[in-house]
Amino acid sequence: MVSRLDGKTILVIGVGSGIGAASVGIFAAEGARVAGVDLRPAEEVHATRPIADDREADDRLIYIQADLTDEAAVERAFQTASSRFGRIDGVFHCVGVVSRVSILDCTMEEWQHVLAANTTSTFLVSRGAIQQMRHQEPAGGSIVHMSSSVAVGGGPGTAAYTAAKGGVSALTRQLASEYGRDKIRVNCIAPSRVEATGLYVSWIATQPDAAAAYRDAVRSNPLGSAYGRLVNPQDVAHAALFLLSDESCMISGITLDINGGARPRP
Ligand SMILES: NC(=O)c1ccc[n+]([C@@H]2O[C@H](COP(=O)([O-])OP(=O)(O)OC[C@H]3O[C@@H](n4cnc5c(N)ncnc54)[C@H](O)[C@@H]3O)[C@@H](O)[C@H]2O)c1
Repeated sequence: MVSRLDGKTILVIGVGSGIGAASVGIFAAEGARVAGVDLRPAEEVHATRPIADDREADDRLIYIQADLTDEAAVERAFQTASSRFGRIDGVFHCVGVVSRVSILDCTMEEWQHVLAANTTSTFLVSRGAIQQMRHQEPAGGSIVHMSSSVAVGGGPGTAAYTAAKGGVSALTRQLASEYGRDKIRVNCIAPSRVEATGLYVSWIATQPDAAAAYRDAVRSNPLGSAYGRLVNPQDVAHAALFLLSDESCMISGITLDINGGARPRP
């Protein structure tokens, strides 16, 4: 049986935690060679350790430490992955940081930090991926970025993050129309709150009663209340798997909501 990412090399960025970490095993199980990237030192990143006790696994998984806001580091990450595996068929960009202050309390430094980690990193990753995907033989590939439901609905105290993720969705649409002729697809995913992630942990830490906050979040979500949980990292990784596979070969420029049916506030 042919697996959904057989023969493909996928760069997963943000593999140290959350959605990126959950994606590595799912993509590798579907036949992908995975180059995992994160800011953290290799010894802190468990997702890219060989999945099976199998020497072949080492040939299909590498780890590259890089800061996604650093132009030269992003270029080096693409060079390392493409020289190791020969080509890059897909990129899943899962890096993001959130800020939880209103615009009145947001310093210039915090604004720039949030824009750099979410939006400037999307520019650098897109540029690196498109350069590689246009010139490899055969040309083409699929790029998946991470936006958020706040990009449409907003959220209290998330001015910088909302602006940053709005930029991710807008850049996704622009690149899709410009590079489709090169067989390059660009999409993004916009989840509501995703449990068992770094961003979730930082949110729950702000709640006076964590258990009650979780229960309320589940209850207010249509599918969440049916399943008794929020969106989880695997839900998002499976959506990215579809967008990276050839099953979605005519889909480009979309923002795919994963929000359990919750209606984003306009
Ligand atoms: N978790 C949620 O509730 C949620 C909801 C909507 C959107 N998102 C988006 O999904 C993506 C993943 O979120 P998550 O909660 O899984 O994140 P996370 O915090 O669990 O993991 C993010 C990873 O990115 C790495 N990272 C941070 N800055 C970096 C940098 N400059 N260079 C390289 N690596 C860096 C971190 O070390 C970490 O391993 C983000 O873009 C986030 O904005 C998350």
